[in-house]
Amino acid sequence: MVRFTPDFLDELKSRLRPSDVIGRYVKLKKQGNEWAGLSPFTKEKTPSFFVNDQKGFYHCFSSGKHGDVISFLQETQQMSFYEAVEGLAEEAGMPLPTESPGEAARAEKAKGLAEASAAAAKFFAAMLHRADGRHALDYLRGREVTDEQIAAFQVGYAPRGRNALKDYLLNKGFTEGVLIESGLLIKPDDGSASFDRFRNRVMFPILGTRDRVIAFGGRALDPDARAKYLNSPETPLFHKSSVLYNYAPARMAAAADKGALIVAEGYMDVIALWGAGIKRAVAPLGTALTEDQLSLLWRASDEPVLCFDGDRAGLGAAHRAVDRALAMLKPGKSLRFAFLPEGKDPDDLLRAEGPGAMMTVLNAARPLVDVLWERETGAQPLDTPERRAKLRAHLRSLVKEIADKDVRDAYGAELSQRLDAYFRPQSQKSGEGQAGGGREGGWGAARGHGGGGGFRRDRKGQGFRFAVPARPSPGLRQPSQWVREASLILSAINHPALIERQETAFLELEIADSALKLLLSEVLSAFSTDPALDSPALKSHLTQTGAAGSLERVIHDTQLSKHKFLRPDAEIDEVEQGFTNALAHHLFESTLKQEVARSASQIFTDGDDAWKAAAAAREELVNSSKHEDDGGEGDSPQNFADALEQMKRTVDKKFGR
Ligand code: UTP
Ligand code: MN
Repeated sequence: MVRFTPDFLDELKSRLRPSDVIGRYVKLKKQGNEWAGLSPFTKEKTPSFFVNDQKGFYHCFSSGKHGDVISFLQETQQMSFYEAVEGLAEEAGMPLPTESPGEAARAEKAKGLAEASAAAAKFFAAMLHRADGRHALDYLRGREVTDEQIAAFQVGYAPRGRNALKDYLLNKGFTEGVLIESGLLIKPDDGSASFDRFRNRVMFPILGTRDRVIAFGGRALDPDARAKYLNSPETPLFHKSSVLYNYAPARMAAAADKGALIVAEGYMDVIALWGAGIKRAVAPLGTALTEDQLSLLWRASDEPVLCFDGDRAGLGAAHRAVDRALAMLKPGKSLRFAFLPEGKDPDDLLRAEGPGAMMTVLNAARPLVDVLWERETGAQPLDTPERRAKLRAHLRSLVKEIADKDVRDAYGAELSQRLDAYFRPQSQKSGEGQAGGGREGGWGAARGHGGGGGFRRDRKGQGFRFAVPARPSPGLRQPSQWVREASLILSAINHPALIERQETAFLELEIADSALKLLLSEVLSAFSTDPALDSPALKSHLTQTGAAGSLERVIHDTQLSKHKFLRPDAEIDEVEQGFTNALAHHLFESTLKQEVARSASQIFTDGDDAWKAAAAAREELVNSSKHEDDGGEGDSPQNFADALEQMKRTVDKKFGR
C-alpha cells in the first residue's frame, strides 16, 4: 500500500474545509469563529462539539476527542486511515501519490497472491458440494452448520489428493512460484515436487481488509491428522499476528447494532455465533492476542468482550490477555472477560443450550480491573503484613505498566481504594452501615472463577473482614450516595416543573449509579419531548422504559419517603429548596471524592509513606461524611464548602505540601 507523505496529507487537509466534511455527518451551526454541533461521540442535548476551520480540527468537549478530518472519518465512519484519505483525496481533486518502482512490484506481487488465494477459495467452495467432498459437508451438517453459514464464510473443502489444487491452479495460468509463495503449495527442501498444503480438510478462507482472501485455516477431517487445524504460513499478504478472523464484517456489525466486538477462540466459534445472530465475533488464529490484534479490536469497539473457557487453562489465557492489554489501555478503551461453563467454547454452548445461554454469559462479562484484582488477591493467602505489603507493591508495579497517564491514575485510585477496603480491620468498619450490601451486591455473585482466595475464606471473622469492594466500578462510595442521587431524580419525577426551573443543574447532573443514571436520562428525554408532561404521565411513561425497575425502587424507598420535599404533594418552592440543598451535598461529595482519589492515585505510584498518609486522609473523609447517614436534610452548602477546604488542608499537610 502507498505511504502518504506528510506533505501530501498537509496539502489534502488544506484543500478541504473541515466544516464541509464534518458538516455532512453532524449538523453544525456557526458560532463565532467556530462551528458547533451535537457530539457524534456521545448522546448529548447541548452542543459541545466544535469545528474550527482555521485551525483545521474538531474538538469534542463531552468525550475529549480531538482531531482532523481524517481522524473524524476514522472515528465516526468506521473507515481505515487509507479509506479516509482515499475518499478525501478524490473530493479534493488530488490524485493519489504514485508508487515507487519497488512498491509497484510489491503491489503487483500481492495482487498475484491475492488472485491465487481467491481462485483457491472458489475451488475449495465448489469441492464441498462435489461427491468427494460429501463427507466434509456431512461433517459440517453434523455440527449444525447451515448452508447460510457455509455461504457467508465461504467454507470449503480441500480434497485428499496431493495435486488437486495445484493442477487446477496451474491450469488456470498461475505459476508454481506464486502458488508456493502464497502458501497453497509446499515445496520440500530436498528438491522433490511441490504439493498441496491442505489435504482432506474443511477450509476457512481468511479475509483481509477489502474482502480479499489472504490466507486459509483448514480443519482436519481425519482424526489421525498431525494437526487439527492448519493455517497458511506467513506470506507477503498474511501476517498471522495482525489478523483477526472475520474482522471487517464483525466491525461493521458491531457498528450497526452498537454492540461490543466478541473475541472467541476459533473459526467454528465465530461461525456458530454468527448463526445465532451474534455477527460481531472475531477470533485470533490459534495464538494468544497480540498487540496488533488488540489495536484492531479497539478500532472497532471500546470494550471488546473476550470469551474464555471457565477452566483453569481458560483463566490462565484470560490472565495473559490482561497482562498484554495493561500497558495499552487508553481512556475508554478496555477489555471485558466472559467465562463460559467449564470445557465449553461458544460453539459448544450454543449447540448445547442455545443463544440465550450465550447472551447470559456475554452479559455477565467482567471488567479487566476485576479479573486483575481477583488474580492478585486470590494468588496466595494474605494473612501476614509481609504478604499484604507484597501484594501492594506488586499492584503498584502493575499500575506502573499502564502507559496512559489518565488510565494509570484511575487504576491507582481504584486499586488503592480496594486495598484499603480489603484490609481495613473489622472494628473500624462496623459503623458504616450497609455499604456494599443490598442493592450493590453484584460482586459476590460474580466471583467464582479462580479468584476466591484463601485469605478471605480462612480469615473470615478473624480480624479482617471479608472482601469489601462491593462492586467493580470505581469511586469512593458512601451508603448515602444512592439516596442522595435518587432524591435529586425523584424531585424531578414528582414535580417535572422543577426541571425547567433547574434546567442547567439537571443537564449538568452527574450520576454515578448506573441504574439511576439511566433513570435520569429517561426523565430528561421524556421532558425534552414534552415539557408539559405532568408527574403521573411521566411515571407511566417511565414504566415503559428500561428504567422501570429503578423508578419502582425510587418511589418506594423508605429512606427517601422520610423527606418532606420528596413527597408528591409538596409545594414546588419547598421542592426546589430541598433539591438545591441535596444538590449541594451531591456536588460537595463528588468534588471531595475526586480530590482525594486523585491524591490517592498519585501516591499509589510514589511510595509507602505517602500511601499511609493518603489512607489516613481517606479514613478521615469517611468519618467526616458519616453524619449524612442520619437521614436528615443536612448542613448548609456553606458548611460543606468549609469542610471541603479543611479536608484539602488535611490532605496537603499529610503529604507535606
Ligand atoms: P480448538 O482446538 O479449541 O478447537 O482450537 P475448536 O475451535 O473448538 O475446534 P473444533 O470445534 O474441534 O473444530 C481453537 C483455534 O485454535 C487454532 C485454530 O485457529 C482453532 O480455530 N488451532 C487449534 C490451531 O491453529 N491448530 C490446532 O492444531 C488447533
Ligand atoms: Mn469447538
